[in-house]
Amino acid sequence: MPKPRDDIAPTRLQDYRPPPWWVDTVDLQFALREDATEVTATLALRRNTAVAAAPLRLDGERLKLKRIELDGVALAESEYRLSATALELAAAPEQCMLTTVVEINPAANAALVGLYLSNGNFCTQCEAQSFRRITFFPDRPDILSVYTVAISADRERYPVLLSNGNPRAHGEAATAADGRARHYAVWHDPHPKPCYLFALVAGRLARLAGGFTTMSGRHVELNIYTEPHNADKCEHAMRSALNAMRWDEQTYGREYDLEVFNIVAVDDFNMGAMENKGLNIFNSAYVLARPDTATDADYQSIEGVIGHEYFHNWSGNRVTCRDWFQLSLKEGFTVFRDQEFCADMSARGVKRIRDVDTLRTRQFSEDAGPMAHPVRPRQYISIDNFYTMTVYHKGAEVIRMLANLLGAADFRKGTDLYFSRHDGQAATTEDFIKALEDAGGRDLSQFRLWYDIAGTPRLDIEQDYDPARRRYTLRVKQHTPDTPGQTDKPAMHIPVRVSLLGADGRAMPLTLQDEPPQTETTRVLHVTRKRQDFVFQQVRGRPVASLLRGLSAPVRLDMRRTDDELRFLMAHDDDAFNRWDAAQTYATQLINTRLDNDSTRMDAGKIAAGFIAACKKTLADERIPPALAAEILTLPSEQYLAGRQKHARPERIHRARKALRAAIAEALAGELVERYHGLAPSGAYSIEPAAMGRRALRNVCLSYLMTAAPPAEATVELCLRQYRQADNMTDVIAALRCLANLEHPARERALGEFYAKWKDTALVVDKWFSLQATSELPDTLARVKSLVEHPAFNLKNPNKVRALIGAFAAGNPSCFHAPDGGGYMFVADKVLQLDRFNPQIASRLAANLSAWRQYDKSRQTLMRRQLQIIMDTRELSKDTFEVVAKSLRG
Ligand code: TRP
Ligand code: ZN
Repeated sequence: MPKPRDDIAPTRLQDYRPPPWWVDTVDLQFALREDATEVTATLALRRNTAVAAAPLRLDGERLKLKRIELDGVALAESEYRLSATALELAAAPEQCMLTTVVEINPAANAALVGLYLSNGNFCTQCEAQSFRRITFFPDRPDILSVYTVAISADRERYPVLLSNGNPRAHGEAATAADGRARHYAVWHDPHPKPCYLFALVAGRLARLAGGFTTMSGRHVELNIYTEPHNADKCEHAMRSALNAMRWDEQTYGREYDLEVFNIVAVDDFNMGAMENKGLNIFNSAYVLARPDTATDADYQSIEGVIGHEYFHNWSGNRVTCRDWFQLSLKEGFTVFRDQEFCADMSARGVKRIRDVDTLRTRQFSEDAGPMAHPVRPRQYISIDNFYTMTVYHKGAEVIRMLANLLGAADFRKGTDLYFSRHDGQAATTEDFIKALEDAGGRDLSQFRLWYDIAGTPRLDIEQDYDPARRRYTLRVKQHTPDTPGQTDKPAMHIPVRVSLLGADGRAMPLTLQDEPPQTETTRVLHVTRKRQDFVFQQVRGRPVASLLRGLSAPVRLDMRRTDDELRFLMAHDDDAFNRWDAAQTYATQLINTRLDNDSTRMDAGKIAAGFIAACKKTLADERIPPALAAEILTLPSEQYLAGRQKHARPERIHRARKALRAAIAEALAGELVERYHGLAPSGAYSIEPAAMGRRALRNVCLSYLMTAAPPAEATVELCLRQYRQADNMTDVIAALRCLANLEHPARERALGEFYAKWKDTALVVDKWFSLQATSELPDTLARVKSLVEHPAFNLKNPNKVRALIGAFAAGNPSCFHAPDGGGYMFVADKVLQLDRFNPQIASRLAANLSAWRQYDKSRQTLMRRQLQIIMDTRELSKDTFEVVAKSLRG
């Protein structure tokens, strides 16, 4: 039994109480030194008279207290209590000024929260609860203060000094004891904000400058700061930021509210990026791009993340969260906003397909495992463990359903009301729903369950056509499976968007029983009960139903479909998502139920003949945009397939999927080569969506061609030619990925050349690690183990950990789940190493062992054994403890 620990008591939503003290203003002075930074904080405190008086308690961790003064008078040690996590004052006047001076050590900070160094530059990360590692403060998001920040530092090593808000002053500072010149800068942020949005950056940084005129005609200065050698990779981020600013004005009426908007890219970052007020700090992976270093996927995620952080300025900063249980208030809404922004910037249908794919592969499995939690969780041990697919992506789906329920005009009225009603406040998800309810005049009581009920609801639908009465009936049953701590769940409000396609492929007008004839060909059925029938009348001929169009609700649909129906939908559905989904369902049925381990390629070709014929049509149909065709022709991932099986055996899934791929490649070899050549780039390289689509489809063709076992030498040559001659990273990586899966001398040569060429470009080296970590070749684990020792690898850098170890654990099911348990052992070992200095990264890696129940008995034992080894380790962080303890409970 592990010894009892007091830091792992859960925090509960039901225990929320308003703060006993407010902090109206915060004055911060930083004297920056790598290993001894002095932070002087002066807080204007005011007792919250709406609640019972309580002692003044400030959070603080790893702070060396050097001085403390109340209203200008130094306090004696008897007047306060200091523990490892807090500073408590016995007595304080109802209004007072508290000054503390603390020393911190950024150079020793490998957790990458609080104030730390990245490649010699200072930066901060305070969300969720790390401001307390910078100074003593009541570290909770419902305390909003106006900040003034003065930074002093060595002038030569840190020429750029940044904080939130607008620049106020700068100049020379007193020379240091060692004679080195210092300088200072003062920043002031007029907008009251929670401390998690505080930020500071100091370093030698290059600046790309831009400007934006807001809808009311104010000029905003935009800057993107990077290390000097990356200055030539910021243009796309700048363009994305400008597009995001314009889009938020046009779509939500939201204007930027400071004189400057600064973005800084750093190499060492635990997450994607952070929306600090006026000073967004980014993982450099979501800023830096040049055609020869970044793929189309990189360009797209940069646009999305730049948009995401910018949109937080209103959904998160101007209106923030009352407590961390409300995290989805800002994250779910902001993900929805960034998804829609990207959809408007490119092809809506394909963007939706990708978002749904992420949701179904990653969120659905989270929701089916031991970490399942509602969009608004009720308790946590470490809030860092709740920056999840559920809070972000299921949260976004909930907002999407609301937007669809209200319609564009009322949704906009609702968000306007929400922003104006709660501007400058710390709000709750309930406040958001209430604003939509008030603006749209709708009752959303049942809909609210989406915030409280964990688990993915299942829809079981049967269809019945009565030709005599021309009636078509959908019999719908809904059921939400049990999740840890939640059973017997109520009926949810599930909007099901539907069309009925006639034999000619056209959608019919939809008239429900007892209605006068209608004209709409797409309607939303509101499933609100556990069983419900929907009867359509005047249906001439048996239709093919297009259900849950655009994934109108984050649910799993179970419906028996014939191959004919699926082929029909692949060919005719005018909803791009459903067209793709028909192909996914078809392929899933083939792989999971009909192709087994021993299917030869010949068998596979026969079994899958109908599917292959539909793929052939898709490939040939020039009316289908290439980006969409590329998605339709991409088989469901092994991870997705595993989530749809009981006691999955990853090696079988891998083999069956590969057999289907090989059968397609063989049957369509001629068409694939032809399309490959037909899609060759004609003009100059471009990142326009159409050009990206052509590259995507062309690379899908290449990857099929390289799937044949073994591919013809001419095909290998073709692949090598693309690898050597391409002028962009998308095509280079696509070719190299094929080679990395191939036992062929060309493989080592290409990987070697690639590293030699890019060894000084960190983000490209990350791709090199990932390609090798996700190779399907059987020696992959051995290779990953040796790459951990490679000079370019660094366990302290989260991008490197994700690129190599994370990619292996999450992106290579057949090797990670090797039957001997070697993959599990390797990952558990890295979890323990990481946990000693970076708990956030360790616990995320540990989560790859959570879903043991999904797998066969032998793997269950092996995965649990590694979880137990982690659990039995002394001094585990509370982050990793929470994930592993819940996982073991299953
Ligand atoms: N709010 C950030 C976002 O969604 C998330 C984030 C960035 C974060 N860094 C973090 C969360 C560190 C927890 C810890 O954009
Ligand atoms: Zn966010």
